Amino acid sequence: MSTTKGLEGVVATTSSVSSIIDGVLTYNGYNIDDLADHASFEEVVFLLWNKKLPNKEELDAFQKELAAASKVPDAVLAQMKTYPIDQVHPMAALRTAVSNLGLFDEDADNQDKDANLKKAVKLQAQIPTIVTAFSRIRKGKEPVAPKKELSFAANFLYMLNGVEPDDISVKAFNKALVLHADHELNASTFTARVCVATLSDMYSGITAAIGALKGPLHGGANEQVMAMLSEIGDVSNAESYIKDALERKVKIMGFGHRVYKDGDPRAKHLKEMSRQLTEITGESKWYDMSVKIDEVVTNEKGLLPNVDFYSASVYHSLGIEHDIFTPIFAVSRMSGWIAHILEQFDNNRLIRPRAEYTGPDKQKWIPMENR
Ligand code: ACO
Repeated sequence: MSTTKGLEGVVATTSSVSSIIDGVLTYNGYNIDDLADHASFEEVVFLLWNKKLPNKEELDAFQKELAAASKVPDAVLAQMKTYPIDQVHPMAALRTAVSNLGLFDEDADNQDKDANLKKAVKLQAQIPTIVTAFSRIRKGKEPVAPKKELSFAANFLYMLNGVEPDDISVKAFNKALVLHADHELNASTFTARVCVATLSDMYSGITAAIGALKGPLHGGANEQVMAMLSEIGDVSNAESYIKDALERKVKIMGFGHRVYKDGDPRAKHLKEMSRQLTEITGESKWYDMSVKIDEVVTNEKGLLPNVDFYSASVYHSLGIEHDIFTPIFAVSRMSGWIAHILEQFDNNRLIRPRAEYTGPDKQKWIPMENR
């Protein structure tokens, strides 16, 4: 038996949701650069689930469907108020709340295609409500109900802050959502597929995926990037901070990637957004610091920034609390997780690899009194 640590290079399934070929990321064949420049997040979700871009009527109908499904059951919100708010990370709260949603959906275990599509819409529509409600509840504020006339991106910012966002913020946030929507067989998507391949339900698959995204080697990196930027504090400290960290073999969050070795195609979009937004907020130091870190890590280690690196200063510039960064990743990636879960159900086989045994052999049973 031969093993590949971390399953590097292993092709574990076929998929037509998204692809990374020669460093180019596409969603169902559409280059991420085109989608980032032109698509609304709702269009991307439709594309990922239906494998085609929506026409005007289809998009209108889909937006209405999402808006109609965005209300989270009162019992789930009431339970969120009982979480130990002071010690709970929003990703843990999200994982628990999404699992809770399954308890209140009578169709949770109904595996019909239509029932699964209904659950897909509910999950996608309700995750922004949960993330923003938790952010407000822990500050002693009431959750804000979404407005039907706002886009998905605008509604998130509206529900988070209680005021309608400006156009620049909405455009930037929409682009960030588009860029994070799917990414082939990343760790959380693989987790979701493994879970539902047992014919478990969609809520279980998404709950498992949120757990996987939470880790700092995956989606949790964006919050850690902001923690690093805050600790560095000023561009003049960046070079010595990074060189010292690298010398101590500390991993620099937001750099490196299992698949991309010549750079993550999403990073350039986030870098440009970071430049623009930090200029608008008058806090260019976050961008300047990020660029300096980028330069030092590239020179010292030959590692390039991934999607998480510049998204930190983008979200910070949008006034978003740092521990909400990873939940935002989940809000967007929900669309990809669902697309993969639907694809898994369409052509399912249990995912059950092997492990090469490295423990002792032919052990003799030792009675309790002899141990
Ligand atoms: N900083 C410093 N060194 C690094 C970094 C980094 N960010 N990333 C990789 N390296 C080094 C490793 O220490 C290792 O060096 P060595 O061979 O001397 O021991 C070498 O590069 C290979 O790294 P691995 O960790 O084996 O690479 P792997 O493919 O397993 O990991 C990962 C990829 C997890 C993304 C890694 O680069 C990392 O930990 N990055 C920081 C966390 C991060 O940004 N995660 C977000 C990834 S994107 C996403 O999930 C949305």
